[in-house]
Amino acid sequence: MKVFVYSARSYDKPALQLAAGGHALQFTEQRLKRDTAQLAAGCEAIVIFTSDDASAPVLDILHSLGVRYILLRSAGYDHVDLKRAAALSIRVANVPEYSPNSVAEQAVAMLMAVNRKLIQGQRLMQLQDFRIDSLQGFDIHGKTVGIIGTGKIGMAFARIMLGFGAKVIAYDLQVNPEAISAGIKYESLEALLRQSDVVSLHCPLTAATRHLMSETQFSWMKPGAILVNTCRGAVINTVDLIKALDSRQLGAACLDVYEFEKGLFFEDHSGDIIHDANFVRLRSFKNVLITAHQGFLTTDAIKEIAETTINNLDCWQNGVPCKNELTVKPGIETDALERKPRIVGSI
Ligand code: NAI
Repeated sequence: MKVFVYSARSYDKPALQLAAGGHALQFTEQRLKRDTAQLAAGCEAIVIFTSDDASAPVLDILHSLGVRYILLRSAGYDHVDLKRAAALSIRVANVPEYSPNSVAEQAVAMLMAVNRKLIQGQRLMQLQDFRIDSLQGFDIHGKTVGIIGTGKIGMAFARIMLGFGAKVIAYDLQVNPEAISAGIKYESLEALLRQSDVVSLHCPLTAATRHLMSETQFSWMKPGAILVNTCRGAVINTVDLIKALDSRQLGAACLDVYEFEKGLFFEDHSGDIIHDANFVRLRSFKNVLITAHQGFLTTDAIKEIAETTINNLDCWQNGVPCKNELTVKPGIETDALERKPRIVGSI
């Protein structure tokens, strides 16, 4: 089948090519959006990533071009309007489980870097300032870690925290029996936030989780607690996050994702002026560590993503049920809205 791959990068092109089998892949580094949809003309399938825009108007264009299959090289599918895809008979599949450990380990790495002030330590080292007065952290051992979303990644993170000797508590709409057998107690969101020294977000972005962490929820948090977000940026209300940091209610934040990352992350904007005052402000806090959505970026995960993506396509081509096919679930709305990047002009 002819397949058009959007947002292709040096790290995933070789893996996809290796997995491609009989499929003819064409690549572009450009994001899928209204004005790049046309590039897929002549291809029956497209492969997209989280930075791509598969909102209703874009799906309409793709359908008119003959695109019938959308393969996500991601677990999250909040950027796809599944209702519109179903109405257009476009089939969509994701990679639900490539390496939950890749993201969980990124969350742990960020937590440890922020808590133990590793980045500041490195900067001082480079300045040959060997004082350690500003580098104090706290033991994770014996502290309470709250996990929001006890699915695959949340549980991988929970297991690591249990290994550290932390008390792990959780909030989720569904109880995971694996969490119960690990001795994890479920709490209400408020009770979890009031008790936790560290809170880590691992839920999908849906209409229900959009801005799940807003002013009220920040006010429930233990003063000085650390918030880790490796799920989706819009689960946090960015303006309220900045207020919580300003007032020092929040001790620190680790962000692998950002509410307005589309058109920003995964791209080189080193020559651009960024007109997103909130993003610039967030970067200015010493106690905020931001990475550009790299949680999934391990060799193991990239290989698994490529193989599952092509396998999903093979299933459809061979008329075999595709276990990763996404359908609209009642009560769960996705968040596929067109969002304009906030970058204007060049330096
Ligand atoms: P999963 O589907 O295994 O687990 C998600 C959990 O969230 C489930 O237990 C579900 O019941 C829970 N949940 C759903 N709605 C909720 C709500 N309103 N309140 C509380 N909990 C709720 O998903 P998995 O594989 O653990 O991934 C989680 C998220 O991580 C993905 O949806 C994606 O957005 C993000 N992700 C980020 C990556 C990165 O590179 N930073 C890479 C992969 C995934």
